[in-house]
Amino acid sequence: MIGRLNHVAIAVPELGPATAKYRDALGAEVSAPQPLPEHGVTVVFVTLPNAKVELLEPLGEASPIADFVARNPKGAIHHLCYEVDDILAARDRLKAAGARVLGAGEPKTGAHGKPVLFLHPNDFSGALIELEQA
Ligand code: CO
Repeated sequence: MIGRLNHVAIAVPELGPATAKYRDALGAEVSAPQPLPEHGVTVVFVTLPNAKVELLEPLGEASPIADFVARNPKGAIHHLCYEVDDILAARDRLKAAGARVLGAGEPKTGAHGKPVLFLHPNDFSGALIELEQA
């Protein structure tokens, strides 16, 4: 059911040093920081030939990644995003299999303007999973 790996998201306390490492040490193509207030993050997109890395910095006092960054002050992998062809069919299949969909269970518009859902990490080997409509 799942398709391509779309991105790996890494949450960091500050985008500047993390972006510099990807750009200067790793030689990657990086975007300018993009504030996404509706998601409570500022994101830098790192474009790789086969997937993306998203560097996330908390934005605002109610950022959903604030606690995670507080627990991981050096930064840490926050989630993986897999593409699916039909996000509602994927959700229904996962719920039938006993997986927990976070929030109200309805897709929201993600950082790329496409519908996304998140799955509880305890149901997937400790990894928070984002599904994005391809
Ligand atoms: Co994501």
